[in-house]
Amino acid sequence: MKIDVLTLFPESFKPFEESIISRAQKKGLLEINIINIRDFTKDKHKKCDDTPFGGGAGMLMSVQPVFDAVKSVWDESSKVIYPSPSGKVFNHSMAKQFAQQEHLIFICGHYEGIDQRLIEIFNAEEVSIGDYVLTGGELPAMVIIDSLSRFVDGVLSKDSLNEESFSNGLLEYPQYTRPQIFEGRAVPEVLLSGNHAEIAKWRKTKAIEKTKKVRPDLFKGETRED
Ligand code: ADE
Repeated sequence: MKIDVLTLFPESFKPFEESIISRAQKKGLLEINIINIRDFTKDKHKKCDDTPFGGGAGMLMSVQPVFDAVKSVWDESSKVIYPSPSGKVFNHSMAKQFAQQEHLIFICGHYEGIDQRLIEIFNAEEVSIGDYVLTGGELPAMVIIDSLSRFVDGVLSKDSLNEESFSNGLLEYPQYTRPQIFEGRAVPEVLLSGNHAEIAKWRKTKAIEKTKKVRPDLFKGETRED
């Protein structure tokens, strides 16, 4: 899968040089290109912001450099994502859907955002990562890319995807490793029993208890597979 990220702050994407995302790129499972929108401005002072029609606080990103930057990477197979607090709230199933795309283009907004016509021209999907406002689209783009990358074939093992939070509509059960007793607290006996059916039952009970307590909004009384 190919991902082009358009940003005024390319340095923000340094974290992608580490760990799982970096390995996925080296293995050729993912290609992530970070593109500087400022390289596309035709303004002699390299300016990339402009005032909003109708007035109001703050500036918008200039239309021309964003338009030309998208055009430089766009083709019929591209899906454009615009991280924005006004978008649909990102979740597990959106991550899975985005991972099926051949080519994603992220437009990282700054200032007060981008001109509405850019969203329309490129049929961009506005995606929010939660009900709060960040200073730019770089962190949301990183969150979305990190999360969808886990569903790109070969990036993670199938088991780790099947057992994690949200994979069955529940939060994940608690996990333990060595030592068996730590600070006077013992690992639950059932996990040492070797009885896989009992362990699975215990984990499901714990996952349900946790979901009901922490995220009652997620708990629908039954589990789902998606
Ligand atoms: N840009 C600023 N805040 C954001 C948010 N919560 N989600 C996505 N993009 C954003």
